[in-house]
Amino acid sequence: MTTRHFLKDTDLSPAEQAEVLDLALRMKAAPYSVQPLAAEGAGRKTVAVIFDKTSTRTRVSFSTGVSDMGGTPLIINPGESQIGHKESVEDTAKVLERMVAAIVWRTGAHQGLVDMAANSRVPVVNALCDDYHPCQLLADLLTVKEHKGKLAGLSMAYLGDAANNMANSYLLAGVTAGMHVRIAGPEGYLPAPEIVAEAEDVAAATGGSVLVTVDPAAALEGADVVATDTWVSMGQEAEKAERMQLFRDYSVDAAAMAKAAPDAVFLHCLPAYRGYEVAAEVIDGPQSVVWDEAENRLHAQKALLAWVLHQSGQAVVEGLAPRA
Ligand code: CP
Ligand code: NVA
Repeated sequence: MTTRHFLKDTDLSPAEQAEVLDLALRMKAAPYSVQPLAAEGAGRKTVAVIFDKTSTRTRVSFSTGVSDMGGTPLIINPGESQIGHKESVEDTAKVLERMVAAIVWRTGAHQGLVDMAANSRVPVVNALCDDYHPCQLLADLLTVKEHKGKLAGLSMAYLGDAANNMANSYLLAGVTAGMHVRIAGPEGYLPAPEIVAEAEDVAAATGGSVLVTVDPAAALEGADVVATDTWVSMGQEAEKAERMQLFRDYSVDAAAMAKAAPDAVFLHCLPAYRGYEVAAEVIDGPQSVVWDEAENRLHAQKALLAWVLHQSGQAVVEGLAPRA
Protein backbone atom coordinates (compact mmCIF):
# COMPACT_ATOMS: atom_id res chain seq x y z
CA MET A 1 0.00 0.00 0.00
CA THR A 2 1.45 3.36 -1.02
CA THR A 3 1.00 6.21 1.42
CA ARG A 4 -0.03 9.45 -0.27
CA HIS A 5 1.60 12.60 1.05
CA PHE A 6 0.90 16.21 0.02
CA LEU A 7 4.19 18.09 0.30
CA LYS A 8 3.88 20.31 -2.77
CA ASP A 9 1.17 21.26 -5.25
CA THR A 10 2.29 18.84 -7.95
CA ASP A 11 1.98 15.86 -5.59
CA LEU A 12 -1.56 15.79 -7.01
CA SER A 13 -1.86 15.03 -10.72
CA PRO A 14 -4.31 17.22 -12.68
CA ALA A 15 -7.01 14.52 -12.41
CA GLU A 16 -6.34 14.05 -8.69
CA GLN A 17 -6.45 17.80 -8.00
CA ALA A 18 -9.80 17.99 -9.82
CA GLU A 19 -11.09 15.04 -7.77
CA VAL A 20 -10.07 16.71 -4.49
CA LEU A 21 -11.72 19.99 -5.52
CA ASP A 22 -14.92 18.20 -6.51
CA LEU A 23 -14.92 16.39 -3.16
CA ALA A 24 -14.40 19.75 -1.43
CA LEU A 25 -17.49 21.16 -3.15
CA ARG A 26 -19.47 18.07 -2.12
CA MET A 27 -18.26 18.34 1.50
CA LYS A 28 -18.92 22.09 1.61
CA ALA A 29 -22.54 21.42 0.63
CA ALA A 30 -22.86 18.60 3.21
CA PRO A 31 -20.19 19.27 5.86
CA TYR A 32 -20.69 16.10 7.94
CA SER A 33 -21.31 13.65 5.09
CA VAL A 34 -17.76 12.30 4.88
CA GLN A 35 -16.44 10.83 8.14
CA PRO A 36 -13.10 9.07 7.53
CA LEU A 37 -12.01 9.61 11.15
CA ALA A 38 -15.31 8.73 12.87
CA ALA A 39 -15.51 6.42 15.89
CA GLU A 40 -17.35 3.66 14.00
CA GLY A 41 -14.55 3.48 11.44
CA ALA A 42 -11.78 0.92 11.81
CA GLY A 43 -8.90 3.37 11.67
CA ARG A 44 -7.19 5.96 13.79
CA LYS A 45 -8.92 9.13 14.98
CA THR A 46 -6.19 11.64 15.77
CA VAL A 47 -4.49 14.01 13.33
CA ALA A 48 -1.30 15.72 14.58
CA VAL A 49 -1.12 19.34 13.43
CA ILE A 50 2.34 20.71 14.18
CA PHE A 51 3.33 24.38 13.96
CA ASP A 52 6.91 25.63 13.84
CA LYS A 53 5.51 29.03 12.75
CA THR A 54 2.45 30.94 13.93
CA SER A 55 -1.00 30.58 12.32
CA THR A 56 -4.65 31.56 12.56
CA ARG A 57 -6.43 30.08 9.50
CA THR A 58 -4.40 26.92 9.17
CA ARG A 59 -4.76 26.05 12.85
CA VAL A 60 -8.50 26.74 12.99
CA SER A 61 -9.34 25.13 9.65
CA PHE A 62 -7.43 21.88 10.30
CA SER A 63 -8.72 21.73 13.85
CA THR A 64 -12.33 22.28 12.79
CA GLY A 65 -12.01 20.05 9.75
CA VAL A 66 -10.65 17.07 11.68
CA SER A 67 -13.48 17.46 14.23
CA ASP A 68 -16.07 17.72 11.44
CA MET A 69 -14.83 14.38 10.07
CA GLY A 70 -15.21 12.62 13.41
CA GLY A 71 -11.59 12.86 14.52
CA THR A 72 -9.52 14.61 17.17
CA PRO A 73 -7.01 17.29 16.22
CA LEU A 74 -3.80 17.30 18.23
CA ILE A 75 -2.41 20.82 17.86
CA ILE A 76 1.30 21.17 18.70
CA ASN A 77 2.32 24.82 18.87
CA PRO A 78 5.77 26.33 18.15
CA GLY A 79 8.25 25.30 20.83
CA GLU A 80 5.98 22.64 22.37
CA SER A 81 7.60 19.48 21.02
CA GLN A 82 11.12 18.03 20.83
CA ILE A 83 11.07 18.11 17.03
CA GLY A 84 14.08 19.70 15.40
CA HIS A 85 15.97 20.67 18.54
CA LYS A 86 16.00 17.65 20.88
CA GLU A 87 14.96 14.99 18.36
CA SER A 88 15.42 14.51 14.63
CA VAL A 89 12.56 14.73 12.13
CA GLU A 90 13.16 11.07 11.28
CA ASP A 91 12.78 9.88 14.88
CA THR A 92 9.72 12.11 15.37
CA ALA A 93 8.08 10.59 12.28
CA LYS A 94 8.73 7.05 13.52
CA VAL A 95 6.92 7.85 16.78
CA LEU A 96 3.99 9.79 15.32
CA GLU A 97 3.21 7.29 12.55
CA ARG A 98 2.52 4.63 15.19
CA MET A 99 -0.19 6.75 16.83
CA VAL A 100 -1.93 9.17 14.49
CA ALA A 101 -3.95 8.96 11.26
CA ALA A 102 -2.04 11.78 9.55
CA ILE A 103 0.64 14.39 10.22
CA VAL A 104 0.06 18.01 9.18
CA TRP A 105 3.13 20.22 9.57
CA ARG A 106 3.94 23.92 9.12
CA THR A 107 7.71 24.37 9.05
CA GLY A 108 10.62 26.17 7.36
CA ALA A 109 12.72 23.97 5.11
CA HIS A 110 10.84 21.78 2.64
CA GLN A 111 13.43 19.05 3.18
CA GLY A 112 12.03 18.54 6.69
CA LEU A 113 8.69 17.55 5.18
CA VAL A 114 10.42 15.21 2.72
CA ASP A 115 12.27 13.56 5.63
CA MET A 116 9.07 13.30 7.68
CA ALA A 117 7.23 11.67 4.76
CA ALA A 118 10.09 9.26 4.06
CA ASN A 119 9.76 7.93 7.61
CA SER A 120 5.98 7.87 7.92
CA ARG A 121 3.46 5.24 6.84
CA VAL A 122 0.65 7.74 7.44
CA PRO A 123 0.05 10.76 5.17
CA VAL A 124 2.14 13.89 5.74
CA VAL A 125 0.57 17.20 4.65
CA ASN A 126 2.45 20.48 4.16
CA ALA A 127 0.67 23.26 6.07
CA LEU A 128 3.16 25.83 4.68
CA CYS A 129 6.91 25.78 4.35
CA ASP A 130 9.41 28.32 3.03
CA ASP A 131 8.89 27.04 -0.53
CA TYR A 132 5.21 26.06 -0.86
CA HIS A 133 1.74 26.55 0.62
CA PRO A 134 -0.19 23.86 -1.26
CA CYS A 135 -3.22 23.65 1.07
CA GLN A 136 -3.77 27.37 0.55
CA LEU A 137 -3.81 26.85 -3.21
CA LEU A 138 -6.47 24.15 -2.97
CA ALA A 139 -8.61 26.73 -1.17
CA ASP A 140 -7.78 29.41 -3.73
CA LEU A 141 -8.64 27.17 -6.67
CA LEU A 142 -11.87 26.11 -4.98
CA THR A 143 -12.78 29.80 -4.57
CA VAL A 144 -12.05 30.59 -8.22
CA LYS A 145 -14.03 27.53 -9.34
CA GLU A 146 -17.02 28.70 -7.29
CA HIS A 147 -16.89 32.25 -8.61
CA LYS A 148 -15.94 31.54 -12.23
CA GLY A 149 -17.43 28.08 -12.76
CA LYS A 150 -14.16 26.67 -14.12
CA LEU A 151 -10.39 26.81 -13.79
CA ALA A 152 -8.83 25.57 -17.05
CA GLY A 153 -8.23 28.37 -19.51
CA LEU A 154 -8.49 31.20 -16.97
CA SER A 155 -5.56 33.58 -16.50
CA MET A 156 -4.25 34.19 -12.98
CA ALA A 157 -1.79 36.99 -12.13
CA TYR A 158 0.30 37.08 -8.94
CA LEU A 159 2.20 40.26 -8.06
CA GLY A 160 4.80 40.93 -5.36
CA ASP A 161 7.35 38.65 -3.72
CA ALA A 162 7.54 36.20 -6.59
CA ALA A 163 10.17 34.04 -4.87
CA ASN A 164 8.04 33.11 -1.88
CA ASN A 165 5.95 30.06 -1.01
CA MET A 166 2.71 31.52 -2.40
CA ALA A 167 4.25 32.45 -5.77
CA ASN A 168 5.65 28.93 -6.18
CA SER A 169 2.33 27.36 -5.24
CA TYR A 170 0.30 29.65 -7.54
CA LEU A 171 2.59 28.60 -10.35
CA LEU A 172 2.47 24.85 -9.74
CA ALA A 173 -1.16 24.49 -8.65
CA GLY A 174 -2.39 26.91 -11.31
CA VAL A 175 -0.85 25.08 -14.24
CA THR A 176 -1.98 21.74 -12.76
CA ALA A 177 -5.52 23.13 -13.11
CA GLY A 178 -4.79 24.17 -16.71
CA MET A 179 -4.61 27.89 -15.94
CA HIS A 180 -2.44 30.55 -17.56
CA VAL A 181 -0.32 31.66 -14.60
CA ARG A 182 1.53 34.98 -14.74
CA ILE A 183 3.99 35.81 -11.98
CA ALA A 184 5.42 39.33 -11.63
CA GLY A 185 8.09 40.50 -9.21
CA PRO A 186 11.38 42.42 -9.22
CA GLU A 187 14.61 40.95 -10.54
CA GLY A 188 16.12 38.67 -7.90
CA TYR A 189 12.69 37.86 -6.41
CA LEU A 190 11.31 35.58 -9.12
CA PRO A 191 10.59 31.84 -8.88
CA ALA A 192 13.62 29.52 -9.04
CA PRO A 193 14.37 28.16 -12.54
CA GLU A 194 13.63 24.56 -11.51
CA ILE A 195 10.14 25.52 -10.30
CA VAL A 196 9.45 27.42 -13.53
CA ALA A 197 10.69 24.41 -15.51
CA GLU A 198 8.43 22.04 -13.57
CA ALA A 199 5.47 24.40 -14.10
CA GLU A 200 6.19 24.56 -17.84
CA ASP A 201 6.26 20.76 -18.05
CA VAL A 202 2.91 20.49 -16.28
CA ALA A 203 1.43 23.31 -18.40
CA ALA A 204 2.44 21.49 -21.58
CA ALA A 205 0.25 18.57 -20.48
CA THR A 206 -2.74 20.54 -19.17
CA GLY A 207 -3.02 23.34 -21.75
CA GLY A 208 -1.99 25.97 -19.22
CA SER A 209 0.94 28.36 -19.60
CA VAL A 210 3.57 30.21 -17.58
CA LEU A 211 4.69 33.84 -17.75
CA VAL A 212 7.37 35.09 -15.35
CA THR A 213 8.03 38.80 -15.70
CA VAL A 214 9.30 41.92 -13.94
CA ASP A 215 6.47 43.92 -15.59
CA PRO A 216 3.32 43.98 -13.43
CA ALA A 217 1.21 45.35 -16.31
CA ALA A 218 2.13 42.37 -18.51
CA ALA A 219 0.96 39.99 -15.80
CA LEU A 220 -2.25 41.89 -15.09
CA GLU A 221 -3.49 42.50 -18.64
CA GLY A 222 -6.99 41.03 -18.89
CA ALA A 223 -6.37 38.60 -16.00
CA ASP A 224 -9.37 36.71 -14.60
CA VAL A 225 -7.79 36.35 -11.17
CA VAL A 226 -5.42 38.75 -9.40
CA ALA A 227 -3.50 37.62 -6.31
CA THR A 228 -0.83 38.89 -3.98
CA ASP A 229 0.74 38.07 -0.61
CA THR A 230 2.71 39.80 2.12
CA TRP A 231 6.08 41.25 1.10
CA VAL A 232 7.59 39.97 4.36
CA SER A 233 7.02 36.26 4.95
CA MET A 234 7.49 34.57 8.30
CA GLY A 235 11.21 34.39 8.98
CA GLN A 236 12.06 37.44 6.83
CA GLU A 237 11.29 40.08 9.45
CA ALA A 238 14.90 41.38 9.53
CA GLU A 239 14.57 42.36 5.83
CA LYS A 240 11.34 44.29 6.34
CA ALA A 241 12.59 47.85 5.61
CA GLU A 242 14.36 46.75 2.41
CA ARG A 243 11.39 44.69 1.24
CA MET A 244 8.93 47.55 1.71
CA GLN A 245 10.91 49.47 -0.92
CA LEU A 246 11.67 46.53 -3.24
CA PHE A 247 8.09 45.53 -4.02
CA ARG A 248 6.43 48.98 -4.13
CA ASP A 249 5.69 48.82 -7.86
CA TYR A 250 3.89 45.49 -7.40
CA SER A 251 1.18 46.72 -5.05
CA VAL A 252 -2.36 45.71 -6.05
CA ASP A 253 -4.33 48.95 -5.99
CA ALA A 254 -7.34 50.14 -8.01
CA ALA A 255 -5.12 51.11 -10.95
CA ALA A 256 -3.67 47.59 -11.02
CA MET A 257 -7.13 45.98 -10.85
CA ALA A 258 -8.24 48.22 -13.75
CA LYS A 259 -5.68 46.45 -15.98
CA ALA A 260 -7.25 43.05 -15.23
CA ALA A 261 -10.56 41.80 -16.66
CA PRO A 262 -13.53 43.89 -15.50
CA ASP A 263 -14.93 40.84 -13.66
CA ALA A 264 -11.60 39.74 -12.20
CA VAL A 265 -11.62 38.40 -8.65
CA PHE A 266 -8.99 39.32 -6.07
CA LEU A 267 -7.31 36.69 -3.85
CA HIS A 268 -5.03 37.05 -0.81
CA CYS A 269 -4.12 34.15 1.49
CA LEU A 270 -4.09 36.54 4.51
CA PRO A 271 -2.81 37.97 6.80
CA ALA A 272 -2.89 41.13 4.62
CA TYR A 273 -1.12 44.44 5.08
CA ARG A 274 -3.37 47.16 3.69
CA GLY A 275 -1.46 50.00 2.03
CA TYR A 276 1.44 47.72 1.15
CA GLU A 277 0.88 44.66 -1.05
CA VAL A 278 -2.81 45.52 -1.43
CA ALA A 279 -4.85 48.72 -1.17
CA ALA A 280 -7.76 48.73 1.26
CA GLU A 281 -10.10 49.67 -1.60
CA VAL A 282 -9.21 46.41 -3.36
CA ILE A 283 -9.21 43.89 -0.50
CA ASP A 284 -12.34 45.47 1.01
CA GLY A 285 -13.91 46.15 -2.40
CA PRO A 286 -16.45 44.30 -4.57
CA GLN A 287 -13.94 42.19 -6.51
CA SER A 288 -12.36 40.74 -3.38
CA VAL A 289 -13.25 37.12 -2.53
CA VAL A 290 -10.76 36.77 0.33
CA TRP A 291 -13.33 35.77 2.98
CA ASP A 292 -14.67 32.96 0.78
CA GLU A 293 -11.03 32.00 0.20
CA ALA A 294 -10.34 31.89 3.95
CA GLU A 295 -13.46 29.77 4.59
CA ASN A 296 -12.47 27.43 1.79
CA ARG A 297 -9.32 26.43 3.70
CA LEU A 298 -11.70 24.36 5.83
CA HIS A 299 -13.52 22.64 2.97
CA ALA A 300 -10.47 22.08 0.76
CA GLN A 301 -8.37 20.61 3.57
CA LYS A 302 -11.15 18.30 4.75
CA ALA A 303 -11.37 16.96 1.21
CA LEU A 304 -7.60 16.64 0.95
CA LEU A 305 -7.35 14.73 4.24
CA ALA A 306 -10.24 12.45 3.28
CA TRP A 307 -8.63 11.88 -0.12
CA VAL A 308 -5.15 10.99 1.19
CA LEU A 309 -6.66 8.69 3.86
CA HIS A 310 -8.70 6.96 1.14
CA GLN A 311 -5.72 6.65 -1.21
CA SER A 312 -3.50 5.38 1.60
CA GLY A 313 -5.94 2.61 2.54
CA GLN A 314 -6.84 4.13 5.92
CA ALA A 315 -10.47 4.94 5.05
CA VAL A 316 -13.00 4.43 2.30
CA VAL A 317 -14.66 7.58 0.98
CA GLU A 318 -17.76 6.86 -1.07
CA GLY A 319 -17.75 8.35 -4.53
CA LEU A 320 -13.96 8.50 -4.90
CA ALA A 321 -12.19 6.41 -7.49
CA PRO A 322 -10.74 3.20 -6.02
CA ARG A 323 -7.18 3.46 -4.74
CA ALA A 324 -4.50 3.62 -7.44
N1 CP B 1 -3.19 31.86 4.99
C1 CP B 1 -2.69 31.25 6.08
O1 CP B 1 -2.02 30.21 6.00
O2 CP B 1 -3.00 31.85 7.25
P1 CP B 1 -2.40 31.49 8.69
O3 CP B 1 -0.92 31.85 8.65
O4 CP B 1 -3.17 32.35 9.64
O5 CP B 1 -2.58 30.03 8.94
N1 NVA C 1 4.12 34.04 2.46
C1 NVA C 1 3.50 34.08 3.77
C2 NVA C 1 2.22 33.32 3.77
C3 NVA C 1 1.46 33.36 5.07
C4 NVA C 1 0.21 32.51 5.05
C5 NVA C 1 4.46 33.55 4.82
O1 NVA C 1 5.11 32.53 4.56
O2 NVA C 1 4.56 34.14 5.90
